Amino acid sequence: MRGDRIDRPADLDVVRESYDRVADNYAHMVVTTGIGDIRTHPWLKASIDAFADSVRGLGPVLDVGCGPGQVTAYLAERGLDVSGVDLSPRMIENARRLHPECRFDVASATDLDLEPASLGGVLGWWSLFNLPRAILPQVLAAFARALKPGGYLITATHAGDEDTVRTEAYGGVPVRWTTHKWHPEQLTKLIDTAGLTTIADLRLPPTDYSGPGLVLMAQRPE
Ligand SMILES: C[S@@+](CC[C@H](N)C(=O)[O-])C[C@H]1O[C@@H](n2cnc3c(N)ncnc32)[C@H](O)[C@@H]1O
Repeated sequence: MRGDRIDRPADLDVVRESYDRVADNYAHMVVTTGIGDIRTHPWLKASIDAFADSVRGLGPVLDVGCGPGQVTAYLAERGLDVSGVDLSPRMIENARRLHPECRFDVASATDLDLEPASLGGVLGWWSLFNLPRAILPQVLAAFARALKPGGYLITATHAGDEDTVRTEAYGGVPVRWTTHKWHPEQLTKLIDTAGLTTIADLRLPPTDYSGPGLVLMAQRPE
């Protein structure tokens, strides 16, 4: 028996179409500028390395909202049994083209129907901030149920308290999505309410290309 169904975000199709439109520019940005490539950001790389070391041997890992798949591929290179899913079919086309050695599928975080206690790790790496505030807790609860006892969640997201409507992104491409920013303490509370224990909390200052961010890692209790 799987967990309860998650409400469908009202704007899901609009968000998908928007990411489809920016997918080629986004993949190009990651490959050519290093923005979005954890290997160019020591603290993001350290976070993903700590996650990789923690989940090794625990079971399959799912990268939810994997975009063009660079983090999925990084984890696969480190010997993890990892696959990626993304809302945007065009993001997944890019992921398959750039990383043909990895498994990628089109799916929304809200529609994964995950087997209970089946995963060693799950990532929501800069990919959960479009979920409406009322829906993110349902997604986190589904992730918590899908983790094996001792398994880990890592998430990175934009810090703050605004809901910012984006109308263009990644090279002036017209988009329509809302970035729901989170206070670290609020997001920690949601993660803990979902049944996980937050074990690391990294705050990131603004950069030339992004506002303040945060990385949280959490574990399902044994
Ligand atoms: C800023 S990109 C990050 C991609 C990748 N994780 C990275 O670090 O480069 C956000 C990604 O989240 C995906 N996304 C947004 N909403 C989603 C949802 N409901 N389910 C799955 N993926 C989603 C988008 O399609 C996009 O690929």
